[in-house]
Amino acid sequence: MKWVLSLLLVFLFVGLAYAEDECISCHEKVTPGIVKQWKESKMSKHFSCDTCHGSSHKTMNDYEKAKIPTPETCKACHPTQYEQFMKGKHSLAWIAMNAMPMVTHQPTPIVGEGFKGCSGCHKIGIKPEEDLKKFKREYGTGSCDSCHTRHKFSKEEALDPRACQTCHMGFDHPQWEMWSTSKHGTIWQIEKDLPNGDPNRAPKCQTCHMPNGTHEVITAWGFLALRVPEDDKEWWNDRVTILQALGVLDENGKPTERFDVVKMGKVARLSKEEFEKIRSQYVAICEQCHSKDFVKQHFDSCDQIIREADRLLAEAIREVKSLYDEGILKKPEGWKYAPDLLQFYEAATPIEQELYMMFLEYRMRTFQGCFHANPDYMHWYGWAEMKRALTEIKTEAEKMRAEAKLAKMEKPVSEKVTKEIKTETQQKKGICGPTALIGLALLPLAYRFLRRK
Ligand code: HEC
Ligand code: HEC
Ligand code: HEC
Ligand code: HEC
Ligand code: HEC
Ligand code: HEC
Ligand code: HEC
Ligand code: HEC
Repeated sequence: MKWVLSLLLVFLFVGLAYAEDECISCHEKVTPGIVKQWKESKMSKHFSCDTCHGSSHKTMNDYEKAKIPTPETCKACHPTQYEQFMKGKHSLAWIAMNAMPMVTHQPTPIVGEGFKGCSGCHKIGIKPEEDLKKFKREYGTGSCDSCHTRHKFSKEEALDPRACQTCHMGFDHPQWEMWSTSKHGTIWQIEKDLPNGDPNRAPKCQTCHMPNGTHEVITAWGFLALRVPEDDKEWWNDRVTILQALGVLDENGKPTERFDVVKMGKVARLSKEEFEKIRSQYVAICEQCHSKDFVKQHFDSCDQIIREADRLLAEAIREVKSLYDEGILKKPEGWKYAPDLLQFYEAATPIEQELYMMFLEYRMRTFQGCFHANPDYMHWYGWAEMKRALTEIKTEAEKMRAEAKLAKMEKPVSEKVTKEIKTETQQKKGICGPTALIGLALLPLAYRFLRRK
C-alpha cells in the first residue's frame, strides 16, 4: 500500500516539475519579469503558473487559451480570506460603480474594460458574468491582487499602508493624504525611518480597517455618511433632503428603486444595531492606545460634524430644488430626478456643478478629515469650502431669479417689434445724426475752397 502512495507522490512531483518547466522555461524568455516576481513569492515553492492559469495554453500562439484568474481561483486554498472579502465592501465595488446613472454617459476605458478611470479602482470588486462577456479579454478580474500585487503576492506588501494609496486618495476620498499627514501617519513614517523605531506605535490603515487580518472592510458611516434612521428630527429632515437629491427617496419621502441599490451595495447602515456593531469595533481599536473618554469625545465630535455639514448641504439642495420648482431650471432629458447628485459632473448648469462639488468633495473631506484626525482637511478643504460653495450657490440662484424676472417683464413686447424699433432708430440716427453734423462742420471748408477757385 505504501509503495502505491510513494509512486503517486513521485508522479505528482514529476507532473508538477514538468508543468513548471513547460510554463516557466518559455516564460523566462517571453515575460522574464513575471517569472522573477513569481519566484520571489512564497507560493512558488509549492506550485506553478498552471495552478492559476490552467494548462490549455502551451505554445507561442495559443496564449488566449490561458485562464485569467478571479478570486474564485484563490478561494480553493484561501477560503477564509475569500469569504471575508466577499462579506466586506471591496467585493461590491464594481456593482456600486455601475449603479451610478452617469456611468452610462462615459466612454469605455473610463468605466469598463481598459480600467483607466472609475473602473481602474473599482475593478477591486467582483464582476458579474454578463459584464465579463462584454470584455474582449477578462483582464482586471483578479481583485485579490489589488493589495498583494501579482506575481509576488506578498503579505508584507499588503500590510504597508501604501498598498491602499492608489485608490484611497484624491478628490472625494483622500484618506491617504489625510492619514499620512495626521499625527498617526507622521509617527508611523518617522518610526519606520528610525534605526530602532517601532512604526506600530501609531495606527496605519490596516490597524483600524483590517484588524486581525480580516478582509471584511466596512465602516459605520460608509462613504456617503447616510445612516437610516436618525433620532434628531432636524437632522433627519436634512438627511431626507439629501436622500431625495440622491434619488433614493421620492418627493413624498418614499424609497425609490435606488434604495434597493443602497441596500444591495451596503452603501448605508440601515439599522441602529448594524451601525453600533461596526462603530464599537472601531472604538475598541482606539481604546488600545487611548482612554475611553478621549475616544468618545473624538467620535461624538465627528458625528456632530456630519450633522453640521448636512445642514449646509441640505440648504444648498433646497435652493437648487426651488429653481426647478419655479421653472427656472428644466429637468435635463433622460434624468429621472432633479436635482440629481448622482449625475456627478454631468450636471448641466454651473450652479449644479457647484452643488456636486459641495456634495462629493467638500462634505466628504469635512467628515473624513475628522475621522482621520486631520484638522486641515476637516476645516480648510472641507468645512470652509462648504461655506464658500453655499454662498456662491445662493448668489447664483438670486441672479438666475432676477434674470428670469427680467425676461418675463420683457416678454410682452415681442422680440420682432423690439428689433424693428431698434434698427429704425439706428437708421434715423445714421442719417440725421452724425452725418449731418459732419456735413455742417465741412461747410465752411467747402466755402473757402470754392472762394479760392
Ligand atoms: C512556448 C512558449 C510558452 C509556453 C510553454 C507557455 N507560454 Fe504562456 N505565453 C507565451 C506567449 C508568447 C504569450 C504572449 C505574451 C505576450 O503577448 O507578450 C503567453 C501569454 C501567457 C499568459 C497571458 C495571457 C494573456 O491573454 O495576456 C498567461 C497567463 C500565460 N501565458 C500562462 C502560461 C502558463 C500557465 C503556461 C504553462 C501551462 C504557459 N503560459 C506556457 C508563451 C508560452
Ligand atoms: C493551490 C493552492 C493555492 C492557490 C490557488 C492560491 N494560493 Fe496563495 N498560498 C498558498 C499556499 C500553500 C501559501 C503559503 C505559502 C508559504 O507560506 O510557504 C499561500 C500564501 C499566500 C499569501 C501569503 C504570502 C506571504 O507573503 O506570506 C498570499 C497573499 C496569497 N497566498 C494570495 C493568493 C492569491 C491572491 C491567490 C489567487 C490569485 C492565491 N493565493 C491562490 C496556496 C494557494
Ligand atoms: C484597487 C483599489 C483599492 C485598493 C488598493 C484599496 N481599496 Fe479600499 N475601497 C476601494 C473601493 C472602490 C471601495 C468602495 C467599495 C464599495 O463600497 O463599493 C473601497 C472601500 C473601502 C472601505 C469601506 C468604506 C465604507 O464604505 O464603509 C474601507 C474601510 C477600505 N476600502 C479600506 C482599504 C484599505 C485599508 C486598503 C489597503 C489595505 C484598501 N482599502 C485598498 C478601492 C480600493
Ligand atoms: C482613485 C480611485 C477611484 C476612482 C477613479 C473612482 N473611485 Fe469610486 N471609490 C473609490 C474608493 C476608494 C471608494 C471608497 C471611498 C470611501 O469609502 O471613502 C469609492 C466609492 C465609490 C462609491 C460608493 C460606494 C459605497 O458603497 O459607498 C461609488 C458609487 C463610486 N465610488 C462610484 C465611482 C464612479 C462612478 C467613478 C467614476 C466617475 C469612481 N467611483 C471613480 C475609488 C475610486
Ligand atoms: C496564484 C495565482 C497565479 C499564479 C500561480 C500565476 N499567476 Fe499570472 N496572474 C494571476 C492574476 C491574479 C493575474 C491578474 C488577472 C487580472 O488581469 O486581473 C495574472 C495575470 C497574468 C498575466 C497577464 C497580465 C500581465 O501582467 O501581463 C500573465 C502574462 C501571467 N499572469 C503570467 C503568469 C506566469 C508566466 C506565471 C508563472 C510564472 C503566472 N502567471 C502564475 C495569478 C497567478
Ligand atoms: C484591501 C487589501 C487586500 C485585499 C483586496 C486582499 N488582501 Fe489578502 N491581505 C491583506 C492584508 C493587509 C493582509 C495581512 C493581514 C494580517 O496578517 O494582518 C493579507 C493577508 C493575506 C493572506 C495571508 C494570511 C496569513 O495570515 O498568512 C492571504 C492568504 C490573503 N491575504 C489572501 C487574499 C485573497 C485570496 C484575497 C482576495 C479574495 C485577498 N487576500 C485580498 C490585504 C488584502
Ligand atoms: C486610527 C484609525 C484609522 C486609521 C489609521 C485609518 N482609518 Fe480610515 N477610518 C477610521 C474611522 C474611525 C472611520 C469612520 C468610521 C465610522 O464610520 O464610524 C474611517 C473611515 C474610513 C473610510 C470610509 C470613509 C471615511 O473616510 O469616513 C475609508 C474608505 C477609510 N477610512 C480608509 C482608510 C485608509 C485607506 C487609511 C490609510 C491611508 C485609513 N482609513 C486610516 C479609522 C482609521
Ligand atoms: C497603536 C496605538 C494607537 C491607536 C490604535 C490609535 N491611536 Fe490615536 N494616537 C496614537 C498616538 C501615539 C498619537 C500621538 C499622541 C500625541 O499627539 O502625543 C495619537 C494621536 C491621536 C489624535 C490626535 C490628537 C492629539 O492628541 O494630538 C487623535 C484625534 C487620535 N489619535 C484618535 C484616535 C482614534 C479615534 C483612534 C481609533 C479609531 C486611534 N486614535 C487609534 C496612537 C494610537
